Amino acid sequence: MDTQTHEQTARERIASAADEAELRAIEREYTGKGGVVAELLAAIPTLPPTERKAAGQGANALKQAVNAALEARRAELDEARLAVELAATDFDATVPARSLAPGSLHPITQAARRLEEIFSSMGYHVLDGPEVELDHYNFEALNIPKDHPARDMQDTFFVATDAVAGDGRLVMRTHTSPVQVRAMERLEPPFRAIAPGRVFRQETTDATHEHTFHQMEGLVVGEGISVAHLIGTMKTFLREVFERDLDVRLRPGYFPFVEPGFELDARCPFCESGCRVCKGTRWIELCPCGLVHPNVLRAGGIDPERYSGFAFGLGLSRLVMLRYGLDDIRHLMGADVRFLEQF
Ligand code: FA5
Repeated sequence: MDTQTHEQTARERIASAADEAELRAIEREYTGKGGVVAELLAAIPTLPPTERKAAGQGANALKQAVNAALEARRAELDEARLAVELAATDFDATVPARSLAPGSLHPITQAARRLEEIFSSMGYHVLDGPEVELDHYNFEALNIPKDHPARDMQDTFFVATDAVAGDGRLVMRTHTSPVQVRAMERLEPPFRAIAPGRVFRQETTDATHEHTFHQMEGLVVGEGISVAHLIGTMKTFLREVFERDLDVRLRPGYFPFVEPGFELDARCPFCESGCRVCKGTRWIELCPCGLVHPNVLRAGGIDPERYSGFAFGLGLSRLVMLRYGLDDIRHLMGADVRFLEQF
């Protein structure tokens, strides 16, 4: 039988093969060990030299033709099997897929990321601190010794544990200020850092107070740092957030870890003559701040004779309320999807 007749026969048998087992048998018969193609190749040395080249090409062409026919028939059989399977179920491959509801970042996360961007562009490190904190960092190192009345300003959740050595009690941090001392221990002055994060207070909640809320600490330490640097920084940051220049003013404020301490107010970004947000005063309370107390620098291992610094503690949750005009802080931690879907 010549190669063309072999090819013709193989094609016909492959085209009418009913399943994969039959195809495999034909494959073995033609292209397997001792198969038709192998025999044709083995016979070449017995042929007259002038016929050998054509015989070799013929055998290879047969092999290729058989392989191509096998592949095509396999695809046909697969398709037919799938069609039978689909016909047996009520699956309709032509129905458009249900779209996934895209999620979004929580407004607090969005605000924190925006602030991180702004402060990073001004050369600030972005730091993190533990939410379960040592009494030492939350109070002692911040110039708030045991039994100091200033501890009452931040009603504290204590963590019941025997795991901490000595009298180092654990607390749920009441503010982000403990990161100040942790930053001083880690970074060489001069440095600038912010630390956004979650804080906890034993509060009766209302429209503007939560037991769990967010703050962002800011700290700059260097030689000759003054209140002028603090004001300049806050004005720059407000310009970035509200996209225009806003006046700020300082009122005296008391925090044991700053001296002098202030409450910083910003001109209401929403009105010219008093509105609901600024309660008609044209000023909004933005954040407490001040120059870092020498005792705090010392607790962080920094020489207060050489270095000074400023710090601020922005109420991040309140800033988000201001930004979106929210009338109740409890929406933020409420996990109500209808509220969150709006951001
Ligand atoms: C502090 O927590 C100081 N650590 C801030 C500070 C840092 C002062 C650095 C000086 C230098 P205060 O307790 O006022 O301060 O809280 C800071 C801000 O957190 C407040 O202005 C307010 O915006 C927000 N805040 C306080 N309590 C709550 C609460 N229960 N719910 C929501 N926001 C609150």
